Amino acid sequence: MVRAETRDRIARIELARLDKKNAITTEMYVQMAEALAAAEANRDVRAVLIHGAKDCFTAGNDLADFLKRPPGMKSPSWRFFELLPAIEKPVVAAVGGPAVGIGTTLLLHCDLVYATPAARFQLPFVPLGIVPEFGSTYLLPLIAGYQRAAELLLLGQPFSAEKAREIGIVTGIVAEPELLATAEAAARKLAELPPESIRLTKRLMKSAHAEAVKKQITDEGRVFVERLASPEAKEAMSAFLEKRKPDFSRF
Ligand code: COA
Repeated sequence: MVRAETRDRIARIELARLDKKNAITTEMYVQMAEALAAAEANRDVRAVLIHGAKDCFTAGNDLADFLKRPPGMKSPSWRFFELLPAIEKPVVAAVGGPAVGIGTTLLLHCDLVYATPAARFQLPFVPLGIVPEFGSTYLLPLIAGYQRAAELLLLGQPFSAEKAREIGIVTGIVAEPELLATAEAAARKLAELPPESIRLTKRLMKSAHAEAVKKQITDEGRVFVERLASPEAKEAMSAFLEKRKPDFSRF
């Protein structure tokens, strides 16, 4: 589930499904989209804060959901993929523990990202038989450089907070007990600044790539949905849920 709450002019979106490592279901995407839309529409909200627990951000999309209810284009989750890249208010993320799949790709749309030394990022789309999503095939090469993005997107192995900071997707690394307080303090600082100036600056920074990012999200989405139905993806995801090694030898 997702907890959404507005306090001190900050809209907080908390991923709270710890028994499944905060894996995100369709319903949770819908709840996050609702919270983002409400934050954007509320004049009193000056910043958005996205977080999980201090030792678990999210294990990414719920793999059982992918198998049972594979999303199509314009599925109920899609609104989240439209809203986060376009939100005009600043977005801060606090990442501890696993940040897998969408747990890493959503960060590419945030403005400030704080992570603990134990945060583990991963873009395991290729090992799962699918393709990267949420504009990551555009944004990651842009932010990190092509070769660094290629390593992370083609091999799909986990990487550290230090590496995430080095390649430019994490703003700062903070000790686990201070994670939420640090992210909250950054959101509070943003909330105290002139809102129109923040909004315009964010728009100016993003405008050069906004259309291309939107198009890439749609193009990736199309291939992603096709790949979800592939026997390779089914094998990879079933293997994870059945706690065994995938066997791609028959393909
Ligand atoms: N979808 C569905 N369930 C998930 C999940 C996911 N993405 N990630 C974890 N879970 C479930 C596990 O199946 C397990 O459920 P169970 O207790 O009913 O058996 C529970 O959450 C705990 O996960 P576990 O793997 O035991 O935790 P861990 O601490 O050993 O490892 C991760 C944490 C995040 C490294 C590992 O769970 C993982 O790699 N998850 C899959 C990530 C992934 O491929 N995401 C999709 C990206 S598109």
